[in-house]
Amino acid sequence: MADWGLSGIEEPALVVLSELLTNAVVHARVPWDREIETRFVPYPDGVRIQVDDADEQKPVPCEQAEEGGRGLHVVESLADSWGVSDRNGVGKSVWALLTQSREGWA
Ligand SMILES: Nc1ncnc2c1ncn2[C@@H]1O[C@H](COP(=O)(O)OP(=O)(O)OP(=O)(O)O)[C@@H](O)[C@H]1O
Ligand SMILES: [Mg+2]
Repeated sequence: MADWGLSGIEEPALVVLSELLTNAVVHARVPWDREIETRFVPYPDGVRIQVDDADEQKPVPCEQAEEGGRGLHVVESLADSWGVSDRNGVGKSVWALLTQSREGWA
């Protein structure tokens, strides 16, 4: 992040990565030898964080329960935008775009 001049959004980027990665580990129902793929794509003044897994089931933000159901709401509040895309092959790609110029992170 520092190399890309994005030190200002290091903290929210870490939180978003952690939530998406944890979701892939905890929720994706896949054969044992499937891998989770993480990508960081530089954007003008930001980064797109992308976590792929091999489960076709798409994540949906749910009612926040006493325990759990918070992760995607956190992602939504920190990211400019986020979504789920098809990927090459089986599974899906969950991504979030964070930019430094967004109010609050400058
Ligand atoms: N990578 C994924 N693959 C399949 N389902 C997912 C994935 N990520 C999330 N989900 C589904 O979306 C729901 C909402 O995810 P979210 O991260 O908001 O809550 P959580 O993981 O259940 O709890 P928390 O993140 O607060 O510990 C999950 O309960 C799960 O059913
Ligand atoms: Mg979660």
